Amino acid sequence: MKYFMLAILCWVTFLLAADKKSSATEQKIDSILATMTIEEKIGQMTQTTGQWNWHDPANYTSNSAASDGQRIAIREGRIGSFLNVYGSTITRELQTIAVTQSRTKIPLIFGFDVIHGFRTTFPIPLAEACSWDLDAIEQSARIAAREATAAGLHWTFAPMVDIARDPRWGRIMEGAGEDPFYGSLVAASRVKGFQGNDLSSNNTMASCIKHFAAYGGAEGGRDYNTVDISHRTLLETYLPPYKAGINAGAVTVMTSFNEINGIPSTGNKNLLTDILRNEWKFDGFVVSDWGAVGELRTHGFASSESQAAKKALLAGTDMDMESFIYEHQLSALVKSGEVNEQYLDQSVRRILRVKYLLGLFDDPFRYCDSVREKNELLNPNNVIAAREIAKKSIVLLKNEKNLLPLSKKIKSIAVVGPLADDKANPLGFWNALGDPTKVTTVLEGIRKTVSSSTKIIYAKGCEIDSLDTSGFKKAVETAKRSDVVIAVVGESAVMSGESKCRSSLNLPGVQEEFIKALLSTGKPVIVVLMNGRPLTIEYIDSHVPAILETWFLGMEAGNAIADVLFGDYNPSGKLVTTFPRTVGQIPIHYNHKNSGRPSNPDPKSYSVRYLDLPITPLYPFGYGLSYTQFTYGKPSLNSHSITTTDSIMVSVDVKNSGSRAGEEVVQLYIRDEFGSVTRPVKELKGFKKIFLNPDETKRVDFIVTPELLSMYDIDMHYGVESGTFKVYVGTNSSDVQEASFEVVE
Ligand code: GLC
Repeated sequence: MKYFMLAILCWVTFLLAADKKSSATEQKIDSILATMTIEEKIGQMTQTTGQWNWHDPANYTSNSAASDGQRIAIREGRIGSFLNVYGSTITRELQTIAVTQSRTKIPLIFGFDVIHGFRTTFPIPLAEACSWDLDAIEQSARIAAREATAAGLHWTFAPMVDIARDPRWGRIMEGAGEDPFYGSLVAASRVKGFQGNDLSSNNTMASCIKHFAAYGGAEGGRDYNTVDISHRTLLETYLPPYKAGINAGAVTVMTSFNEINGIPSTGNKNLLTDILRNEWKFDGFVVSDWGAVGELRTHGFASSESQAAKKALLAGTDMDMESFIYEHQLSALVKSGEVNEQYLDQSVRRILRVKYLLGLFDDPFRYCDSVREKNELLNPNNVIAAREIAKKSIVLLKNEKNLLPLSKKIKSIAVVGPLADDKANPLGFWNALGDPTKVTTVLEGIRKTVSSSTKIIYAKGCEIDSLDTSGFKKAVETAKRSDVVIAVVGESAVMSGESKCRSSLNLPGVQEEFIKALLSTGKPVIVVLMNGRPLTIEYIDSHVPAILETWFLGMEAGNAIADVLFGDYNPSGKLVTTFPRTVGQIPIHYNHKNSGRPSNPDPKSYSVRYLDLPITPLYPFGYGLSYTQFTYGKPSLNSHSITTTDSIMVSVDVKNSGSRAGEEVVQLYIRDEFGSVTRPVKELKGFKKIFLNPDETKRVDFIVTPELLSMYDIDMHYGVESGTFKVYVGTNSSDVQEASFEVVE
């Protein structure tokens, strides 16, 4: 009892101390605000970009720069934040101007798109999500933060947590796929990775939940396009990952470019104040996306710059990235009385609060450490970690007759394809200061892995996106002279990412013809895909014996792919986005509604289907094979009838019935069969990644809580409705074993 009381005392003391610290911070902010002019307040709400040298990141030497005009603006208190300025030298120089030459001495906050690594490039977020390893995802963000903060950065514009159901949308590469439950867990992991346990530490950085909100719902999968969804879809599908990121402690949010049902996010009070502030209690600050305050006019939501400034500020956008409309318009709006200065104070308070949390008032130069910068960037441990998560991100889509893994003593291998010996594209989009010269290509990775007696012959065969087939001949000749062909094909890194949407998801150029030419040799062909989105590869799926989905795995791509090709790692990745058979099937996602005439394969059926396509996707959500086989027992429940406040335990025995040790992502889905509104046919509500040796069986238990069974009812009240539920456990969203239970009032 004594220890219990002691623990309580410590906890209360901690809370009181934290509260005292935060109220001390608020008092300091009050005192700063009291001295600031209107222009200085607006300065804190203005973010501008450095002249970053994104053209040559390989020669990273702190050479991002700011103009002389920007130096003057810092001195005059007209800039509170930079983006795209990095490096301990330049950030120290600009920070010195801010804290010694400006009147308020308020430190700058430096932000950058540290999306999947800073200098050590990790797999693109969509790839990392396929690892279903939340610890690895968190560590990836942790390492990115350690590197970025060693280069003077305080703030990353990540994690992007937008749910994406349309693979034509280029930014699907930047998130965690189509599922709200899993996307929420990944969002929280990334926030914790970036922010750590102490934001004032010099190796943690402010995260940014983006793009708020529903950016991934763009019509036609065209970036920035209109989002027109029901309020229910907004609440149930799109908002959960943002909320999870806020609940994990994210201290900034970025508005999305799109409108939602007629209101652009940057001017959307219901989103930025009613939901984000009043419901979710977010007390950090909101930054617009690039120029988005100005785009309120383009949307047709503001008739002038002045009205755009007023609408954005009153809705809840605290900082203006790169439109300068706050700088140009807010002073007059406040002086004329049209906008109350309290709105400026509110935004500045939120911004200064984050600067305090980062420790910038205690030590503005805490993050400008050239020694740390030299030791942290590309630290060998960081590179090892990049390879580890890259391996886990690879999804084995097909492996006929166990063609894979290959023997390291194989006599000869033809390594072909436009991405087989490519150093730039494996870095993917949003690769920050990723250095192509540091990338291990697939060809290099294979060369390092096989025996000295193995003959490796390389031929590019074709380009990623060209109609030129003149290289086929040499590649086909190479294939004929080898025991096996490894063809590395896919997209370029800039075919996905911001404003990189595609109307076709086929392999670009003549790559599919190239695969056909290789298959005509009769040699076994292994396709290694590098891409930023699901691709429509029906022909390859039906004709190629082995297919690895490797996404863009970062600088260790070649090593990770070789680890899997030759069995040093048994692939364990699972898809987080459905692969359609054709673009015509989009939107297609696993958690769809049943409709009154659910899909029926009978071609004569009057059901949800196309005349010219099967009713199933090419690969379902949660799909991924292993070099071993896993068998599932029937799920057992600890009860078949619970009340709306009970939890239920679902247990399943999973056996490794193959000959290799391996990892399996055991997935749990539910279906609320009848409700006051219709419910999806499946909803992911749990998963566990387990390791099993050959012949080993593990019992996997899931606790399904009332929270996991909750929904918005017909009156939009959130909670558990009574009725019958199905529970599904399996290796992907389609291949499951089921059980059922009921919930009674
Ligand atoms: C871009 C992106 C956003 C990014 C910002 C700063 O337009 O939409 O995700 O963080 O500008 O680069």
